[in-house]
Amino acid sequence: MNEPRPEQPDGAGLLEAMRRRRVTREFLDEPVSTADLETVIRAARWASSAGNRRIHRFLVIRSLETIQRLKPFAPGILGNPPALIVVSTDITRAQAEHVQLDRDMNSWIDVGTALMSMMLACEALGLGSCPATSFSQAAVSRALALPESLVPELILQIGYPTSRGPRRGSGVTRPTAAELTDWEEAVGQREPAADDADAPALS
Ligand SMILES: Cc1cc2nc3c(=O)[nH]c(=O)nc-3n(C[C@H](O)[C@H](O)[C@H](O)COP(=O)(O)O)c2cc1C
Repeated sequence: MNEPRPEQPDGAGLLEAMRRRRVTREFLDEPVSTADLETVIRAARWASSAGNRRIHRFLVIRSLETIQRLKPFAPGILGNPPALIVVSTDITRAQAEHVQLDRDMNSWIDVGTALMSMMLACEALGLGSCPATSFSQAAVSRALALPESLVPELILQIGYPTSRGPRRGSGVTRPTAAELTDWEEAVGQREPAADDADAPALS
């Protein structure tokens, strides 16, 4: 017999936050508090990591002057976010963990798991966020005076969203879950076996 499921008091809230989150590219000038940024970083720390190797580091940037200095090298930053978190691979740590970065896809996946956790944490805090991978790694490293051991992989823009209209370019068109899914071990089988008459159809 199956174990009874543990209580999930906030499960519905988490699913709703996943549904609601959309990238924010236009931000209010309002600064983001240290406490909120710490919560966002903690969410990254809680994210799943291949082999639990933890080879990424997080640099918080709140100086508007620094952000403006980065923008020419980061076309992926379209607006004026009041805070950035730069996610970098720590090469020294990767070597210590025997990670072969040139052939290890897991290290990028780890950036993705941290990213998604951070974006959901932002959503939970009422903050908007938008990743940027469109930037020159060399120029950003130079502008931030990063040590050679750190390679910037992704910049997460964070701030309070403007209330103006729908969030720009927020991926409103996307395939439905049904379009993305095959069932019962058979590519081409577009419907699940009926085991629950009340289950809503995937949209
Ligand atoms: C790995 C990754 C890199 C991205 N890079 C950029 C970027 O450089 N600039 C940008 O404006 N958006 C960037 N995005 C945001 C995507 O364009 C956005 O997630 C997509 O349009 C879907 O919108 P949604 O997240 O609101 O559903 C990136 C997203 C991911 C996951």
